[in-house]
Amino acid sequence: MFKSTNPSDISQVITTVEAASAEQIVAAMRKTKSAQKGWAKLPAPTRGRVIANVGRLVERNKEKLAKLITSEMGKVYREALGEVQEVVDTCDFFLGEGRRLYGQTVPSEMQNKNLFTFRMPVGNVFIITAGNFPTAVPSWYIVPALLAGNTVVWKPSEFTPAVANALTDLFHAGGVPKDVLITVVADGEQTFSALETGLKESIINKVGFTGSTAVGKKIGAKTGEYIQSACLELGGKNPMVVMPDANIDLALDGALFAGFGTAGQRCTSLGTLWIHESIYDSVLAKFTTLVENAAVGDPFKDVLFGPMISEKYLENHLAHLKMIQPHHKVSGSTATGKITAKNPRKGFVGDPEKGVFAHPVIVAGVTKDDELYRTETFGPLVTVGKFSTLDEAIELANGHGYGLSSAIYTNDPQNVWRFREGISAGMVSINNSTSGAEAHLPFGGNGLSGNGSRQSGIWVLDQFTRWQSMNWDWSNKLQKAQMDLIEIKHDPNFDLK
Ligand code: UN1
Repeated sequence: MFKSTNPSDISQVITTVEAASAEQIVAAMRKTKSAQKGWAKLPAPTRGRVIANVGRLVERNKEKLAKLITSEMGKVYREALGEVQEVVDTCDFFLGEGRRLYGQTVPSEMQNKNLFTFRMPVGNVFIITAGNFPTAVPSWYIVPALLAGNTVVWKPSEFTPAVANALTDLFHAGGVPKDVLITVVADGEQTFSALETGLKESIINKVGFTGSTAVGKKIGAKTGEYIQSACLELGGKNPMVVMPDANIDLALDGALFAGFGTAGQRCTSLGTLWIHESIYDSVLAKFTTLVENAAVGDPFKDVLFGPMISEKYLENHLAHLKMIQPHHKVSGSTATGKITAKNPRKGFVGDPEKGVFAHPVIVAGVTKDDELYRTETFGPLVTVGKFSTLDEAIELANGHGYGLSSAIYTNDPQNVWRFREGISAGMVSINNSTSGAEAHLPFGGNGLSGNGSRQSGIWVLDQFTRWQSMNWDWSNKLQKAQMDLIEIKHDPNFDLK
C-alpha cells in the first residue's frame, strides 16, 4: 500500500493505492504487449487524433491537475500550471506528427530499383519516471510512444500516485484503449524484477527511465544484457557561468529560479554558480541577499519554493548538508536543514511544522576537490565557485562528468561560441536559466547524465521507432549491389590548356 501525503501538510492524505507486485506488473506488460499490433494497425493520423483529444482534455483540466500536483508533490502552483502546459505542448507537437512520421525515398545505385525507409514502432515500452515532474516528463515518453504505435506500461513515482492516476484517466478519456496504456504503482525492487522478466520474455522492447544516475546505470546494464538500449534521463550538476561582462541582475534572476525553483528538485536545477573572480564577492553578496529575502513556504502562495517532494527528499538534502566543509561559506537563510518553529526561516509563509520544508542554502568557495562539486544535491542547495579564465570555467563545468544542462551569462559572442563548443552538456542556455527547457527541443544529457538518448520534438522518435529500410528491384533481373556498377567513361588526366 502506498500512501501519498501533502508535503506542505503531511497530516493530509492525498491518496492510498495498492502497491503492484512484480507479477502484477508483468501481467500488465503481457496485456499491453498483446494489444500492440492492433494499436499499431490504426493509421498514424488516427493515433494523432487521439493525442489531440488528450491534449485538449489536459488543457480543459489544467487547473485541477496543477492543484493536484502542488498538493501531492509541493511545487509552487505557477510552476505546476507550467508543467501541465508542457503536457499540452507535447500533445500539440505530436498530434501533427501523426500526419508526418516520415520515411524517405532514397535513390538506388542501380536502374529500375527504388529504396525507401519506414519508421516502425519498437513494440511494448516500459516507462519509469520520477516524482518531480509527475506529468510533463511522463508525457515526453508516453505521447510519442503511443503516437508511433507502441503500447505502454507506466511506472510513476510512488510519491505521486494520485497525479499519475489522473493523467492516466485523461489518456483513456481521450481514446487511448485501456490495454494500450496501463499504469502500475510499485516500489523499486518489484519494478526491477518485473523489468528483468519483461526483458527475458521479450514482452518489453524498450525502456524509458528518468531518475538517478545510480539506478540508470542498473537499468542500462540490464537492458544491455538483452540487446536493448534504454532511453535514460539521469542526474545533473548543471553549471552556470557568469562572465564579468554579463548583465548581473539577469544572471541572478536566472540563478535564483534555476537553483531554488521546484525546491532545487529538477534534473536541470542549478548545480554550481561559477562567478568570475573579478566580480565574485559582489555577485555572491547580491545572490545571498536575494536568497535571504526570498519567500519560502505555502506553494499555493507567492513563494520562491515550497516543500520538498517528501520526507525522503528532505533526508537526502540533510545528508548533503554534511558534505559542507570548514573552508566553505554558508549563507542564504537564518539556518540550514528543516524549517521548524525552533529552526525558523525569516518571513516563512504558512506553518513550517506541518510540512517538509528546507532552508535554502548557498555553499560558497567550492573547489573541484570537494564532494559537493561532483554530487547532484537535488534540493535547495546551490554551490558557488570562482574562476579566472573561460577555459578554466569550462573545465570546471565539465570536470565532474555530468552533462545535462548548462548556462553562460555574457554579452560577448566570442564567449558564447567558445562555451558552446567546449561544454559537454546536452543543453546550453545563453543568458538564461539551466532549467525551463521548451518541450520541442532535444532534451537529454551526456556522460553521467545519460547515454545520448534524447527526448522531445522529432528527436524522441528515434527512441520509439526503428528504421526499416526497403529496396524494390523491378528490373526483373538480379542486380548485385557494389558489383553491377554503371561505369561512366571519363578522362581522369584532363587538364585545361
Ligand atoms: C526534469 O527535471 O526531469 O527544463 C525535467 C526543465 C523542465 C523539465 C525538467 N522543462 O527544467
